[in-house]
Amino acid sequence: MYEILRLNKICNNIYGIFDDKYNFSDECDNPDAIILRSYNMADYVIKDRLLAVGRAGAGVNNIPIPRMSQAGVVVFNTPGANANAVKELVLCGMLIASRDIIGGTTWVNTLSDDEDVPKVTEKGKANFGGNEIAGKTIGIIGLGAIGVLVANMALSLGMKVIGFDPYVTKDNKDRLSNEVVMAETLEDLYRNSDFISLHVPLTEGTRKMVNTEAISNMKNGVILLNMSRAELVDVAAAKEALLTRKINKYVVDFPTVDSLKTKNIIVIPHLGASTEEAEDNCASMAAIELKDYIENGNIKNSVNFPRIQKPRTYAKRYCVLFKTGFSVLEGIEAYIKGTGLAYDAASSDNGKLGYLILDINGALDTARLEQEGVLRIREI
Ligand code: MLT
Repeated sequence: MYEILRLNKICNNIYGIFDDKYNFSDECDNPDAIILRSYNMADYVIKDRLLAVGRAGAGVNNIPIPRMSQAGVVVFNTPGANANAVKELVLCGMLIASRDIIGGTTWVNTLSDDEDVPKVTEKGKANFGGNEIAGKTIGIIGLGAIGVLVANMALSLGMKVIGFDPYVTKDNKDRLSNEVVMAETLEDLYRNSDFISLHVPLTEGTRKMVNTEAISNMKNGVILLNMSRAELVDVAAAKEALLTRKINKYVVDFPTVDSLKTKNIIVIPHLGASTEEAEDNCASMAAIELKDYIENGNIKNSVNFPRIQKPRTYAKRYCVLFKTGFSVLEGIEAYIKGTGLAYDAASSDNGKLGYLILDINGALDTARLEQEGVLRIREI
């Protein structure tokens, strides 16, 4: 029986994916796998049975990745599964920042006792005008699953689109319209954009990337959209820029005390992925990834270990997670060749961490697979 710990409420659709070998609970001291959304695992104590963590969502800044890697725990996320929901919220963000829809609806709702609502409305509506987004330029930082959808949507709305992402994958580049102009530098993007939308993960390199210096390069009156993570923006710098209207509006999907207290910051209560469709997609994708890893050792969409998906060729399968730089593969190969057993292997590494799936026509002595650099060995 596999014990799965739920650290957040997860859509019911996942239970159809697992059979009765799996038991789910909200409390479990030593689970085989964990499924979660944005629960903060910073202080989580990793126990010996834990094989994998499935994050139903894209951001993994709530998971202590280096500790998980060291313990041989594979962390999965669900890239793209909520991309459409976030894209639609970016559209909403552009509209509520360009036109005073929130101010207007708040005001009109105060008129319910008025005798002549249509007349008062027509007179008062002049206070809530705005601008159209067609013809404006949006700069999109980060062209992952979400950034690409936002870029293509913006083009279809009649906007000009500038993209920046030195790490864009081939797949995402193929999905991106060739009408998107790729900026050479962030400064180029900042200088030419009426809207700037952030779509990068939170890392030490991106924390407070939008700071006083970055803002100084932006157009006057820019609209900043942040559906990625609050910490990407230095709120003190944004506040100053909002006072001078260097930034016209800042739309952020992550409330903080500071942002709630600042005029012209439009705060959304982290609704980016809060649609029925996105929650279903993320939960089932995370569940399928966990199950395939637990039962077959296949890794797809891990943020710490390399991808390997291999059909079984022999009855016995050994899975080895390792650190690179210790000649682990050579050591294992020397042992296996000595056994004379027929085998078939697939391995890959991401520069720091590696993974080997070994299908073999007989049993191995797992103690002989153990060597310096090996993080975890599993026989399936
Ligand atoms: C994500 O990282 O996927 C989104 O912020 C939504 C969520 O946290 O579930």
